[in-house]
Amino acid sequence: MIHEENIEQHLKVLLKRNPGLSKIAISKEEIIGCVLASYNGFRGYIFRLVVHKDHRRQGVGKKLINACEEDLKKFSMPKLTLNCRKELVPWYKEQGFNVKDAVYLSKEL
Ligand SMILES: CC(C)(COP(=O)(O)OP(=O)(O)OC[C@H]1O[C@@H](n2cnc3c(N)ncnc32)[C@H](O)[C@@H]1OP(=O)(O)O)[C@@H](O)C(=O)NCCC(=O)NCCS
Repeated sequence: MIHEENIEQHLKVLLKRNPGLSKIAISKEEIIGCVLASYNGFRGYIFRLVVHKDHRRQGVGKKLINACEEDLKKFSMPKLTLNCRKELVPWYKEQGFNVKDAVYLSKEL
């Protein structure tokens, strides 16, 4: 579980372990979107993709995810995975993702 008070620490770990893979989108010197991504040697994983609501439906999300995919291909990662809320499934399908018949499990540690 991500504890919001530790978000900076979590981010530092993610960025250090996966240099260059996460991206931000900037417009007029403001961050308008980001994708936080990692890879573990078997596959890439998108932890968060979000575009500021005032900048949606302008291709920003698509560019962020495409940039991430291009980087993962350089590492010869054959697969990109993620979990998302149900209402975002149509968008991810548009980006070429398939819904797998699997259940997402998690456990508090
Ligand atoms: C999902 C999200 C990242 C999409 O970003 P975006 O910049 O608006 O998407 P894009 O403009 O790049 O969309 C690309 C394509 O998808 C289409 N599209 C956009 N929103 C869509 C939707 N809700 N459903 C289906 N298709 C959609 C666009 O028409 C576009 O198609 P085109 O290239 O053929 O014109 C953005 O809506 C978002 O940040 N949502 C909130 C996500 C969130 O809460 N994340 C945190 C928790 S995990």
